[in-house]
Amino acid sequence: MRTQVGIVGAGPAGLLLARLLQRAGIDTVVLESRSREEIEATIRAGVLEQGTVDMLNECGVGARMMREGALHRGIELRFGGRAHRIDLAALTGGRAIMVYAQHEVIKDLVAARLESGGRILFGVEGVSLQDVDTRAPSIHFRRNGGAERLECDFIAGCDGFHGVSRPTIPSRLRREFVRSYPFGWLGILVEAPPSSDELVYAWHERGFALVSTRSPQIQRLYVQCDPQDVLEQWPDERIWTELRARLATTDGWKLREGRIFQKGVVAMRSFVVEPMQHGRLFLAGDAAHIVPPTGAKGLNLAAADVRVLARALAAFYRSGDEAPLAAYSAVALRRVWRAEHFSWWMTSMLHRFHDDDAFSLRLQRAQLEYVAGSRAASTSLAENYVGLPWD
Ligand code: FAD
Ligand code: PHB
Repeated sequence: MRTQVGIVGAGPAGLLLARLLQRAGIDTVVLESRSREEIEATIRAGVLEQGTVDMLNECGVGARMMREGALHRGIELRFGGRAHRIDLAALTGGRAIMVYAQHEVIKDLVAARLESGGRILFGVEGVSLQDVDTRAPSIHFRRNGGAERLECDFIAGCDGFHGVSRPTIPSRLRREFVRSYPFGWLGILVEAPPSSDELVYAWHERGFALVSTRSPQIQRLYVQCDPQDVLEQWPDERIWTELRARLATTDGWKLREGRIFQKGVVAMRSFVVEPMQHGRLFLAGDAAHIVPPTGAKGLNLAAADVRVLARALAAFYRSGDEAPLAAYSAVALRRVWRAEHFSWWMTSMLHRFHDDDAFSLRLQRAQLEYVAGSRAASTSLAENYVGLPWD
């Protein structure tokens, strides 16, 4: 088999890149180790930046998102039993975020790709990347028991944090930056209408809590937990007790409760690899960087990477100009590090740390009050949260 760009991974990065390249007339094949059913059922992100929304619309896959997603023009910071609204739209010249689940984005991208005759090979095994530092790289894999090879001009490694692409870069040529956090999030899906019109990020001495939504009938809620916790330690009643305590306000706000039908624990880490390119292999999305979910940046960074990469590949095929491809890593990393800082900052401001002393708690509180009370500080949060300009 032969293609121009071989794409490893059918997550948001891989599928969006395939879509952008298809629209630029560039042939791609997407290889995915899981089944279509699995990728369309994995519960992950929920918040799309304005730029990501615009990009999905521009490439013709935004119609269902515009119908079923929820546009949010503000978020709430909650601490000391009180709500503090950050008016995203007023602080950023009208920008907003869209709450629309990642697996719905995946469904829309898969449907659009298959409808337009694009290839996605699901359930491939034993993927390995060969000759990435030559002009004729290839991807070797097994499918339906047989060995196959995909010859490419370029390979896009969009296979997430645990994929094979990043380790293909020799360790002496890459540098990895890591920060782990001493906590995780327990996330649940609940059959109940939204408790709040906007997302609530709550600081509490028992730990962080987050109220998000998925639809008029379904809420997405998170509580800070130990990253080693197993679900048996979190029976429904314990989850509700923590959510009620951490979200309580002095003005009678009520958490809407209902049947919990999905639970999961996620660990929190910050990670970046530099550079994001080796020869003709280009990394994008979680394959190259991870952020803790507090800033809602992961999926959006994946979208930003592939936008830069698609433009660079289009320039190459149009005119043979390799300069944008050579600049890919440096251009992408500038946005990555900004998002790394924002995500680390939100995480540090809103969570309880094991070694918190009274001094650190007072600092956290002072920071929260400053962000809630100062137009300059809340503008900084708002412009990062809705997403800094793309170009
Ligand atoms: P992935 O989504 O991980 O996709 C990689 C794909 O590659 C997968 O389908 C995988 O099966 C496949 N693959 C792996 N290895 C191979 C292989 N060897 N061969 C072939 N295929 C392979 N981000 C936000 O922007 N906003 C949020 O609100 C947000 N909330 C989050 C909440 C949670 C609980 C979690 C866990 C994450 C959240 N994120 C959020 C982060 C976001 O989900 C990720 O950043 C995003 O999925 C990255 O997309 P990706 O395409 O790079 O990688
Ligand atoms: C979500 O809805 O899943 C969500 C929202 C905001 C975040 C992280 C996750 O910061």
